[in-house]
Amino acid sequence: MIEIKKGMTESEIEDYVNYVLEQMTLQEKVAQMIGNGINIKVLFDGGFGKRVYDAAGSEKYNIPSFKFTDGPRGVIIPGSTCFPVSMARGASWDLDLEERVGDVIGKEVRANGGNLFGGVCINNLRHPSWGRAQETYGEDTFQIGEFGAALTRGVQKHNVMATAKHFAANSIEKARFKVNVKMDERTLREVYLPHFKRCVEEGCATIMSAYNKVRGKYCGHNDYLLRDILKGEWSFQGFVHSDWIHGVKDTVGGITGGLDVEMPRAKYYKFKKIETALQESKISETLIDEAASRVMRTILRYTTKEDPQTYEPSLIGCKEHRQVALEAAEKSMVLLKNEKDVLPLDKKKINKLAMFGKLARVRNTGDHGSSDVNIKKVITPLKGIRNFLGDSIEVAYDDGKDPRGVKNTAKEADAAIVVVGLTYKDEGEYIIEKRTGGDRENLSLHDDHIELIKAVVSENEKCIVVLIGGSAITMEGWKDHVPAILLAWYSGVEGGNALAKILFGDVNPGGKLPFTIPKDPQHLPFFDKNAEEIEYGYYHGYTLFDKESYEPAFPFGYGLSYTSFNYSNLNVEVTDDKIIATVDIKNSGKVAGDEIVQLYIGFELSQIDRPVKLLKGFSRMNLEPNEIKPVKIEVPYKNLAWYNPKSKSWEIEQITYTLYVGSSSRKEDLLSTQFNLRN
Ligand code: BGC
Repeated sequence: MIEIKKGMTESEIEDYVNYVLEQMTLQEKVAQMIGNGINIKVLFDGGFGKRVYDAAGSEKYNIPSFKFTDGPRGVIIPGSTCFPVSMARGASWDLDLEERVGDVIGKEVRANGGNLFGGVCINNLRHPSWGRAQETYGEDTFQIGEFGAALTRGVQKHNVMATAKHFAANSIEKARFKVNVKMDERTLREVYLPHFKRCVEEGCATIMSAYNKVRGKYCGHNDYLLRDILKGEWSFQGFVHSDWIHGVKDTVGGITGGLDVEMPRAKYYKFKKIETALQESKISETLIDEAASRVMRTILRYTTKEDPQTYEPSLIGCKEHRQVALEAAEKSMVLLKNEKDVLPLDKKKINKLAMFGKLARVRNTGDHGSSDVNIKKVITPLKGIRNFLGDSIEVAYDDGKDPRGVKNTAKEADAAIVVVGLTYKDEGEYIIEKRTGGDRENLSLHDDHIELIKAVVSENEKCIVVLIGGSAITMEGWKDHVPAILLAWYSGVEGGNALAKILFGDVNPGGKLPFTIPKDPQHLPFFDKNAEEIEYGYYHGYTLFDKESYEPAFPFGYGLSYTSFNYSNLNVEVTDDKIIATVDIKNSGKVAGDEIVQLYIGFELSQIDRPVKLLKGFSRMNLEPNEIKPVKIEVPYKNLAWYNPKSKSWEIEQITYTLYVGSSSRKEDLLSTQFNLRN
């Protein structure tokens, strides 16, 4: 018998899998296609995240099981490091940071006894009402693909299998178990799939199918998505597992569709059911062999690799890991408004600071569904400010319930910080049993939060609004009355410390919006949280706003800094297979700061219907005052292609393209030039 050992080559693994497959009984093969069980009661009584979930594997053949734990806010098992939610990390536009977040997550998965991380969530934010918006990185296909790939790289360094989810077009929460998402071929290929392909190219080990239907077929049964595209066209080598509990609807559908593993336990992939389907010739044993060998091959690839280090439990939630969470919080906050230089606050000029709002002192790290990292102690905004100021400045706190009290507190303070926004009650995974989460009812703040802002600013013009949430919050009606707005997200275990450093200028905010904030929600695509069926169009987010010339409240890619940046010398060089853009960035202000340079390609001169422009590159960098840095961003030709449904292929148009480089997606923030490709 061939032996399992560390450092096995691909061909040794292949030989072993083939050898085992020959020996295995049908029942042993089917055991590779199922989770080893979960008690439903445990799932919903708070016990869900407490341990890893086992699936597949065989003691007899020495093949370890895969051990699932979830994310993406960190490993959900108690004590693990709680990062800012993915949407916040998307706002950092920092891929190196995301890879380091993945690196920490990978270590903590291993230290918790796991070897599979189910938390590379990369669904497009089609509409900000989506309850799980916070679990993804933004509205742009290119950006979420790059972030998913970065997280995958980090996690998989530690021989943890990463799962990209939910494949595909999962972006309505309440209707997720039933909704049929319709879309044309171009929309599927260009908008809803490329980020998954990007993760597959990065070597992502597994894919989780979505609950919803795409074009009439449940994603867990969708042979077009799973067999033709994922395993066929993209040559995906790993395995596909279902989303939990409702991800498979029948035995034959799942198996013929290309779903390899039913998680977290066998319901339709029970041995008896599969045996019957075989006897009735509804499926063939080749399909079982294919699924079982994909699972065994993937597990062996990861479990036989030499580990780069050991994984002691002391790694879980350790100081170094919290430091990465702090950095992520600092880099993700987005300064949306800062008039009259209200920010940064100057310690020397403030004797008394007032902080308002219930959310200033609650543990508010995001939704309470499958991504909830179970930690008790979090640095809240109030705690962060108090940590930062010590006894140097008096901090008054008012929860905002009594309007008269609010006005008095605001009047007496030298500056006022109002913390408002959302919690798990407003948005998150919809869990019927827990009665939490779901899609947003509307996009504005709660009325009492708006009243609080108005009351504070009427008495104190140095009023700073800190917004908490996981996607767009509309602000018409109050945003013009306040001088400063900071989007602070669900910022993780260290969030309050990061907030204090930003408000007082120890950290210069550099985050930028990974989505469009509308003025008028009517400008967004149609959304129905109870939809049985919905059509996803080709345009959403900034591509829709560009196309329709809608004016957003804040555009995609927007964010301010305590300094300013100038762009000059935009140049483009066209080689045989890529374009190379160069530009000089100067920090023209008085303090050091980070700038996120964005590159868009314009298709205005196309013969077909294409977006006005698409994001095709970005880079975050730090500049000292007066420093000038040259920036180079490359775009391969293939990233300019469109999918021609007639020829069923990606085509690159020979047209004059526009290159835009600048600090946001807004026209006035971009330099532009034109170029043609080489024939
Ligand atoms: C969620 C998945 C998650 C799974 C297991 C499901 O309800 O949709 O995203 O990975 O639970 O935690």
